[in-house]
Amino acid sequence: MAVATWREEYNVDVAKIDEQHKQLLDRVSRLHKAVEDRIDKNDLKQMLIDLAEFTATHFATEEKLMQQHNYPAYKTHLREHKMLLRHLHDLVTAVSNGKYPTFYSDYDVSNDWALLHIHEHDKPLGAFLNRAKVF
Ligand SMILES: [Fe+2]
Ligand SMILES: [Fe+2]
Repeated sequence: MAVATWREEYNVDVAKIDEQHKQLLDRVSRLHKAVEDRIDKNDLKQMLIDLAEFTATHFATEEKLMQQHNYPAYKTHLREHKMLLRHLHDLVTAVSNGKYPTFYSDYDVSNDWALLHIHEHDKPLGAFLNRAKVF
């Protein structure tokens, strides 16, 4: 299964967000590979915890920018962030309970969520921030 690598088209043209997205995709891709390689469950759990923490930090960065600039779609975007974080925490719980996640299942570890979120929610945010002279 293909692992997503960074592409120019993922840029939202706000430096801090793009930098974090690169790191996020890197973590998601390493997780993807780790599941394919069926690494040890405890190591996998640690990777998931790290991913959840990094994602929370990244979301907080975007949320702060949205608040600072009175982003009109703030509530919708926030709801998406919360949903994705819940998914990651569910994954951590599932692995803690002995489950081994797979792709496109209840315990999905594919990178689709990150790419979809960037495309559907972070792109419009980037365009809005650019109009507010934030790059
Ligand atoms: Fe976002
Ligand atoms: Fe983002």
